Amino acid sequence: MTRQTGCFITLEGIDGAGKSTHLGFIRDWLSTHGIAAEFTREPGGTPLGEQIRALLLAVDTEVSLDAETLLMFASRQQLVSSVIRPALQAGRWVVSDRFSDSTFAFQGGGRGVPTERIAVLEDWVQQGLQPDLTLLFDVPLDVASQRMAGSRQLDRFEQEKADFHQRVRSAYLQRAAQDARFRVLDATRSIAQLQQDIAGHLAALLEQR
Ligand SMILES: Nc1ncnc2c1ncn2[C@@H]1O[C@H](COP(=O)(O)OP(=O)(O)OP(=O)(O)O)[C@@H](O)[C@H]1O
Ligand SMILES: [Mg+2]
Repeated sequence: MTRQTGCFITLEGIDGAGKSTHLGFIRDWLSTHGIAAEFTREPGGTPLGEQIRALLLAVDTEVSLDAETLLMFASRQQLVSSVIRPALQAGRWVVSDRFSDSTFAFQGGGRGVPTERIAVLEDWVQQGLQPDLTLLFDVPLDVASQRMAGSRQLDRFEQEKADFHQRVRSAYLQRAAQDARFRVLDATRSIAQLQQDIAGHLAALLEQR
């Protein structure tokens, strides 16, 4: 079956798992296969969203649980309506570095916001829009924190304690077990091995269209 709309791919995982590392590879793979694609990130991806991102990641700002969750979805609403939907409707593919699974994992699993409340906002903002493929980069916390060590200033989420990140990782794995759009990648492996896997998943998605 051929469809006219583009495919929507999201990259997920705890901080330092390796999501952003593979964006260039995915860009090259899609371009080699003649697929026009847009790349974006969350929170952010629009002028409004990038301002919200700065507010959310700042280490010196107090943010309540609900304010954090609502700001994530405010950024997402702007991104869905002004970037993701128009691109998909025009037949372009969209690759997003994080999307709503991050909110279920971080605000839900990490901070304890009830899943049902997040799901209300997901329905409101996405109106049924879901990724066609979600690549979950899964690594133990010690590997992720070693990878981040020294490489940058830690943001408000990265500064959270290990048990927070452990809950985030578990929430991701739980979600992945319940939805066929996820591919869980053992992200402790080499970048080259991961690229091979990713290429296989992209090829399968292209084949399905
Ligand atoms: N498979 C890998 N093997 C070894 N090092 C890796 C691997 N993947 C990524 N790295 C390194 O780990 C660090 C973190 O990777 P990256 O920035 O892609 O993580 P991320 O998931 O995007 O993190 P964040 O959520 O904080 O943006 C980088 O220095 C990157 O070069
Ligand atoms: Mg990143």
